[in-house]
Amino acid sequence: MVYAEILAQAKKNMKSCCACPICDGRACGSTIPGPGAKGSGDGARRNYNAWRDIRIAMDTIGSNEPLSTETNLFGRRFALPLFAGPVGAVQMHYGDYLDEATYDQILVRACNRAGIAAYTGDGANAQIMEAGLSAIAAENGISIPTIKPWDMQTVEQKIDQANNAGAFAIAMDIDAAGLPFLRGNASSAGRKSPEELARIVRMSHVPFIVKGIMTPAAAMKVRDAGAAGIVVSNHGGRVLDGCPATAEVLCSIVDAVGNDMTILVDGGIRSGVDIFRALALGADGVLVARPFVTALYGGQEVGVMALAKKFQNELADAMFMCGAHDIAGINRDMIFNA
Ligand SMILES: Cc1cc2nc3c(=O)[nH]c(=O)nc-3n(C[C@H](O)[C@H](O)[C@H](O)COP(=O)(O)O)c2cc1C
Repeated sequence: MVYAEILAQAKKNMKSCCACPICDGRACGSTIPGPGAKGSGDGARRNYNAWRDIRIAMDTIGSNEPLSTETNLFGRRFALPLFAGPVGAVQMHYGDYLDEATYDQILVRACNRAGIAAYTGDGANAQIMEAGLSAIAAENGISIPTIKPWDMQTVEQKIDQANNAGAFAIAMDIDAAGLPFLRGNASSAGRKSPEELARIVRMSHVPFIVKGIMTPAAAMKVRDAGAAGIVVSNHGGRVLDGCPATAEVLCSIVDAVGNDMTILVDGGIRSGVDIFRALALGADGVLVARPFVTALYGGQEVGVMALAKKFQNELADAMFMCGAHDIAGINRDMIFNA
């Protein structure tokens, strides 16, 4: 199945998403529920555009060594530094073609087969996170459940569930309090104090990752709370209108905490060349969310694996053309505008 066929099929199966050849946030605008961004809808577009402004420093004069995209993250070996990002409440956002359990089962299994891992999502309905945890347990824990910043009692229950499912890492999208559809929920998602965050990190039996970090100051608070990593993310523009793009803030966050924690980034990453750009800026890995949804709705397991392979081939090509033989060999000298 070629990627164009996957997109054509996805367009038929999805509500609210146009399955565009380039997922740049223009067609979906501010459609929430749906895959759009909050307010003006500018956040997703800005994320996408910012990667385009980083140009690659091609240099094909040098040694010819075998090339590997493999990497170690959170104690596991992966085929490339790529994760499928968490997407919760798929029926609310994309219509009834797939239920949460089916979506999570396919995503977690396909990512596992592609040599990467998926994050699973959370939502107002408890069954959303439970669907992810069942899929994770079925795949021997090779996935990362992502918990919303609910009240502390609910967070504790959900971390217990994630520990019991055997996940190899656990995440919290700490920025989710800004999601329009979570406002007024019974378990109210909200801000967390540094002390509460440190307690949450200690509840996890495995590496804990905080997703939704956009400033060096916030990254330092996460480090001081004892987390293993962060995802530099503005939730694809879905939690606060007017944020900068993630590519615009990544360098300053890497410079502040890059030696202390694993730094992942998401938002508008749409190719292996974009993964190369993110790694050159200092990220250890990336998450891609919306394009994996499209790949899954259009091609199920085959679609997800095809997208992961496409990213790997594009990343390997950029590495080859710049003289990076392994992931650690990618550096800021390989890009302009850093
Ligand atoms: C429909 C939809 C649902 C999402 N659900 C979650 C979620 O449950 N948890 C989470 O941490 N992020 C969630 N996200 C945010 C994504 O994980 C990701 O941070 C964001 O979309 C940026 O990546 P992208 O530009 O590759 O899509 C969701 C995004 C979309 C579009």
